[in-house]
Amino acid sequence: MITKDGRRKIKAKGVSRQTKDIISKNLPETEKIGFSIGKSLKSPLVIAFFGHLGAGKTTLIQSICRGLGIKDYVTSPSFTLINEYPGKLPVYHVDLYRLQNLSEIDDLGLADYFAKKGIILIEWAEKLGKTLPRDAEFIKIDILGEGERKFCISLGLAALLKS
Ligand SMILES: Nc1ncnc2c1ncn2[C@@H]1O[C@H](COP(=O)(O)OP(=O)(O)OP(=O)(O)O)[C@@H](O)[C@H]1O
Ligand SMILES: [Mg+2]
Repeated sequence: MITKDGRRKIKAKGVSRQTKDIISKNLPETEKIGFSIGKSLKSPLVIAFFGHLGAGKTTLIQSICRGLGIKDYVTSPSFTLINEYPGKLPVYHVDLYRLQNLSEIDDLGLADYFAKKGIILIEWAEKLGKTLPRDAEFIKIDILGEGERKFCISLGLAALLKS
């Protein structure tokens, strides 16, 4: 795993974050990175995941959930858009890929989830627009090659990893 201070910015809907880059050369490295992120998370926390189809959002979230001690197999919520995993910290895995318009967010009651204590992991978070909590942490995934990925992690989250 190569870690370097990327100091680049992610911008989403007017919110920008300084980030740190973590390079994963293959799937097992992603699993290790995700596991250590999961182990370090503190509640309450919202993490917004960005990246194209197949970038690795779900894959990373599965390892983060293992790091959080979730024993169930984590799959992306499709019909419900939100899966809940009770545990030491309640974890909510949200996948907004199929979200058609912002009014559905009200139907989902996402604002209620944001008010709860827990860890909220959101794929396709850009669909939330201004509904995305301003203190959300970011992870943006770029595909570098067939098995290689770059995770741009907001500095607030990177700081948790160090402690
Ligand atoms: N280093 C790596 N890290 C993560 N995934 C990798 C890596 N190398 C290869 N992959 C593969 O990339 C794919 C990532 O798929 P995944 O479903 O996690 O993407 P996603 O970003 O959630 O896509 P979607 O937008 O469709 O939900 C998987 O098939 C995974 O095995
Ligand atoms: Mg996915």
